[in-house]
Amino acid sequence: MFSAHPDHSNLMVFEHPLIEHKLSYIRDRDTSFRPFRALLSQIAGLMVFEVTRSFPSVDVEVATPLERTRCRRIDALITVVPILRAGLGMAEGILEVMPEARVGHLGIYRDEGTLEPVTYLKRLPRDLGAGPVILVDPMLATGGSAVAALAILRGSGASDLRMICLVASPEGVERMRREHPDVRIYAAALDRRLNERGYILPGLGDAGDRMYGTV
Ligand code: PRP
Ligand code: URA
Repeated sequence: MFSAHPDHSNLMVFEHPLIEHKLSYIRDRDTSFRPFRALLSQIAGLMVFEVTRSFPSVDVEVATPLERTRCRRIDALITVVPILRAGLGMAEGILEVMPEARVGHLGIYRDEGTLEPVTYLKRLPRDLGAGPVILVDPMLATGGSAVAALAILRGSGASDLRMICLVASPEGVERMRREHPDVRIYAAALDRRLNERGYILPGLGDAGDRMYGTV
C-alpha cells in the first residue's frame, strides 16, 4: 500500500535494508561505472515490487502438473519511460522483472547554466492512455526534467502516471506536488537539499556521468 512520507503527500520512500545497502555503494564516489550500473538496475528491480501493487489483475485458470487452479495475472498495458541518459539504467532493472512492459524514450538534459530542461528526443507508444505509465530517472533535483517529461507524457495521452527515482530532493518533490499533484513519486531516498549548482546533497553526483564513465 502507498504510504506517504510524513512531510510530502506525493512521495513514498523505501525504507528497506537491502535497498539502503545497495544505495550506500552507489553513493560512494569510489564505486566505478560497472558496479554503479549493476546497482542502479538492481535497486530499480526491487522498487517495482511496490510501484506495481495497484495495477489491475484478473483471474486466470492454470493447469499445474497436478490439477487446475485459479491464479492472478496483471492485466494492464504497462509503459516504462526512462529519461535519457541515466533513466536507462533503472529501466533495464525494471524490464528484468517486468519484461511485458513497453518502453518509451525521452531524451532530456539539464542546461548546466540555467538548470532548465532541454528535450532532444521523444519516442513514445501512440496509445499511452491505454495503461499505467512509469517515468524513470534516478535523480529528482530541481524537478525541471521530471516536470517537463510529465507534461510531454500527458500531451501524448497518458493519464495514469507515477515516477520512480533513486534520490529525490525536497525541492524537486515540492515542485512535483505543485505541478503534477496526482503523480506519486517512489524514491529510494529523500536527501537533504540542493546545492547552489542544483546538485543533490549528499546525493551521488552526476548520475549519467557516473553510470557511463563520462566524468
Ligand atoms: C540528470 C538526471 C535528471 C536531471 C535531474 O540528467 O538524470 O534527468 O539531471 O535534474 P533536475 O531535476 O534538476 O532537472 P542530466 O541533465 O545530467 O542529463 P544526462 O543524464 O544526459 O547526463
Ligand atoms: N542531476 C544529477 O545527475 N545529479 C544531481 O545531483 C542533480 C542533477
